[in-house]
Amino acid sequence: MTSYDVVVLAGDGIGPEVTNEAFKVVDAAASAFGFSIKKSVLDLGTERWLKTGDIFPDADFNAVKDHQAIFLGAIGDPRAPVGLIEYGIIAKLRFDLDLYINLRPIKLYDERLCPLKGKGPKDIDMLIIRENTEDAYAGMHGFVHKGQPLEVATQTMVYTREGVERAIRYAFEACRARNGKKNVTLIDKANAVRAQDIWTRVFAEVATEYPDITTDHAYIDAACMWMVKNPEWFDVAVTPNLFGDIITDLGAMLQGGMGIAASGNLHPGQVSLFEPIHGSAPKHAGKNVASPVAAIMAGAMMLDFLGEKKASVAIEGAISDLLCSGKIKGVGTGVHPCNEVGDMVVEEVRAAVAKA
Ligand code: IPM
Ligand code: MG
Repeated sequence: MTSYDVVVLAGDGIGPEVTNEAFKVVDAAASAFGFSIKKSVLDLGTERWLKTGDIFPDADFNAVKDHQAIFLGAIGDPRAPVGLIEYGIIAKLRFDLDLYINLRPIKLYDERLCPLKGKGPKDIDMLIIRENTEDAYAGMHGFVHKGQPLEVATQTMVYTREGVERAIRYAFEACRARNGKKNVTLIDKANAVRAQDIWTRVFAEVATEYPDITTDHAYIDAACMWMVKNPEWFDVAVTPNLFGDIITDLGAMLQGGMGIAASGNLHPGQVSLFEPIHGSAPKHAGKNVASPVAAIMAGAMMLDFLGEKKASVAIEGAISDLLCSGKIKGVGTGVHPCNEVGDMVVEEVRAAVAKA
């Protein structure tokens, strides 16, 4: 039987409870489709930092590399300084494993989840490709005269030819592979952030290799407007890291909010990381009120990446059916006890497999 080695990093806040539900479902799908998941638990996050001062020791990091995927619940806690744990864990994984694509599907399963008037599932089905290792996130920042009246703070937006090209190329390939409108939109702010001219040029160049795919362009400010006004215009969009961070939160709201949006941090062919887009929501932690649907969807994305497409499709289908039938009444906080949602999805997956 095929077995996959997965690192489970449940993390802070609601991370452990949603991770638990995600693996209930992933394990049930694995046994239904005849494979297994071997989990290595990685105890990292704010609790460990508070106890030991460790953020991400080398021994833990090196162990991660021997696996095929990493599942991350959530990271962040107000007891730690802003960004310390996020940068030490998520950013370290993204940069040091060179997870250069942040794949964020935005798909509406049921009209009731969408805050936009008159928009339904046929209007909201897009894939945002967020470049994941460069831009303002590259870490080139500094302060002069810190704390003084003349303090200067800088952070450099970094774009390499290779980084830009591989993100754009991934977007065109993903567009070709998916059953969409065969359109890729470049989202940038090249009119103000002049360095993003490299995105304009590389996009035009790569596009010539994909004559079957049409292209569009939107500045990030306008793209925010179009996403709300005419989300049906988007099929695949590719964008630098920081804009991708922002616009995918907006996108998450179109599909029902942080309780459903999932993402993959990918380096195709190498160990990659899957996580719900939401944060650790410390105020809801341990109360069994968080929606685990986003984490379960991240689990489905992980299975797809591992090559278990049928299992992934079965999980997505189960969630879609539960949402459309109203058995899952919503993906907000407190709508259902967290642990019951995982059970419902497991049951639905099993029933669908038995029927097939
Ligand atoms: C995300 C998050 C992270 C980011 C934070 C936690 C550093 O918002 O994955 O979207 O900005 O990339
Ligand atoms: Mg974000």
